[in-house]
Amino acid sequence: MYQFTNDCLIGIPEIDKEHQHLFNLLNQTDSALHAADADISAITSRLLNELYNYAMEHFAHEEAYMRSIDDPELNRQLQEHEAFREKVTSYMDSGELTLNTAKELLTFLAKWLYRHILSSDILIGKFQKAKNNDAYVFSNEYLTGIELIDKEHRQLFALVNDVHNLIHDEFIFDKYDEIVRILTELRNYTEMHFHDEETYMEQIHYPELDAQRRAHNAFIEKLVDINFAELEDMDDNQQEYLQGILDFLAKWLINHILKMDKKIGK
Ligand SMILES: [Fe+2]
Ligand SMILES: [Fe+2]
Ligand SMILES: [Fe+2]
Repeated sequence: MYQFTNDCLIGIPEIDKEHQHLFNLLNQTDSALHAADADISAITSRLLNELYNYAMEHFAHEEAYMRSIDDPELNRQLQEHEAFREKVTSYMDSGELTLNTAKELLTFLAKWLYRHILSSDILIGKFQKAKNNDAYVFSNEYLTGIELIDKEHRQLFALVNDVHNLIHDEFIFDKYDEIVRILTELRNYTEMHFHDEETYMEQIHYPELDAQRRAHNAFIEKLVDINFAELEDMDDNQQEYLQGILDFLAKWLINHILKMDKKIGK
C-alpha cells in the first residue's frame, strides 16, 4: 500500500487530485501484481498502461499550469518528467514484462513519484521569476525561535551564498574544484542539520516528525543524485547548470523552513 499522506499536498487542488489518483492507480496495480492469480499480460496492457498514460497526462497539466503562472521551476520539471518518461518506456520496450520486472517497475514508479512530489512539485507556484542575480539572504521571517535550528539554517544560507558568489566571480580562474568543494560541504551540512532537527523533534515529541523525515529524505536522495564529478571544467553551460542546482537547493530550503520548520517552534 502506497500512502498518499497530507505532506504530499502542494496546495493546488487540481494537481493534488491528480497526484492522489496516481497513488490510487499505483495501489490498484500493486494489489493486482500481488494477487495469487496475477495475470501479467492483462496487468501490463490494462493497469500499467493506464498508469503510464495518466502520468503523462498529469505532467502535461502540471507543465501547462506552471507555464500559465510563468513558474521559474518549469525547466527543471520538464527535465525530470522527461527522465521519468525515458526510464519507464525503456522498461516497457525491453520486451514482455515478467511479474518480477513489473514489480520492480512499480516500485520505481512509486518511489519516483513520492520523491518528486516532496522535492519538486512542492515548489510549484511558490517562487516568482528572479528579477536580478540576487543571492539568497537569511531574513528574520525564517526564524523558528529554536536557537540551534536557526543557527544551522543561517549557516546553510551562508554556504549557499558562498557557492553563489564563487559561481559569479569573474576574477577567479579555475574555480570549479572550489565550487564542488563548497557544494559538497553544503550537502554534508544539510544532512547534519536534518539529523539535528530530527533529534530535537524527537525530544519534544513533535507530532509531525514523520512528515519532516519524509521531506528530509526525499531532499537528501535528490542531493545524492547530483553528480558533481560529471562536470569537468567551468564553461558557460556548467556555470548555468551549477547555478540551477544552487537555485533549487535554496528554494527548497526556503520553502521547507517557511512551511514546515517554522511550525516546530510553535
Ligand atoms: Fe511534477
Ligand atoms: Fe531545517
Ligand atoms: Fe526540517
